[in-house]
Amino acid sequence: MSETLLPKPFLKWAGGKTQLADDILKRMPVYFNTYFEPFVGSGAIFFRLYRERKIKHAILSDINAELIDTYKAIRDCVDEVIKVLSCFPHDKNFYYEIRSKDPWNMSLAERAARMIYLNKTGYNGLYRVNRQGKFNVPFGKYKSPNYLDKENLQAVSLALQKVELICASFDIVLRKTKPGDWVYFDPPYIPLSQTANFTSYYSNGFNLQDQEKLRDICIELTKKNVYITLSNSDTPITSNLFSYPFFSKDIVYSNRAINCNGAKRGKITELIISNYPMQRETQLKLLERNSLYFVHSYTENKICY
Ligand SMILES: C[S@@+](CC[C@H](N)C(=O)[O-])C[C@H]1O[C@@H](n2cnc3c(N)ncnc32)[C@H](O)[C@@H]1O
Repeated sequence: MSETLLPKPFLKWAGGKTQLADDILKRMPVYFNTYFEPFVGSGAIFFRLYRERKIKHAILSDINAELIDTYKAIRDCVDEVIKVLSCFPHDKNFYYEIRSKDPWNMSLAERAARMIYLNKTGYNGLYRVNRQGKFNVPFGKYKSPNYLDKENLQAVSLALQKVELICASFDIVLRKTKPGDWVYFDPPYIPLSQTANFTSYYSNGFNLQDQEKLRDICIELTKKNVYITLSNSDTPITSNLFSYPFFSKDIVYSNRAINCNGAKRGKITELIISNYPMQRETQLKLLERNSLYFVHSYTENKICY
């Protein structure tokens, strides 16, 4: 496979993990069966793992139906998607015309083309819908946005051929995973502000109860010998949620925007949490000892293998 044909994310996505990919890959399990990414978004970690040939089988899911349909269209009918996209001009009037159309009255390929076009030409690559579920992001100010990257779309299609794509909430992993699988969770982050008030924050429709439910799922997966890695903001809430001996925590630095004021952008810390030792050497030692898995055993008080 030539270098140019290696797939990369085809959408811009809020919270995209391209920047954190090195940190995640350094800490991934050395051995796993199926890879799960239940908050897939633009799939930065999936594509990186694919490019490095680290995945045998993957199940990608997200609650966003248009997003998952876009993946499905690229997997199943990429030529049609490219054909539709090539007829779309970069033009403000056309943007608002296609934006006003109901994606659910379109074919799969048309719906995907619309999603890619709006994402690449709309303001900041945002995905935002109003209460009626209608996409309401204004036209962006790009001179020549690359919404028709044929080569990458073809490469993405190839990468997705054997991938299972599901539109579902994150708890789907409880039913689908088997011992020895690996789940990477990248939920909407706990906001950095309002951390003092544990109960009141609500971000992107993902609230504290959802974060707690996600933590409980991580505990269930630990009991099941499924490897989990999770990224979230470095806040006291995150640390408290995962303060169990069978979770390891690493602090990493990211250049993520702290807020929309460009001047206030800078390095902030994020947390990577896992239920196995993140050091490669420790994992290998455990495997040498003929341990079948290197998930920390679920015990209330201490870590044992
Ligand atoms: C931080 S983004 C993930 C970004 C992704 N890692 C990337 O590289 O682009 C969070 C994703 O979670 C999805 N999401 C929000 N609530 C969800 C839920 N209850 N179940 C599954 N996915 C959800 C959003 O649609 C969004 O794509």
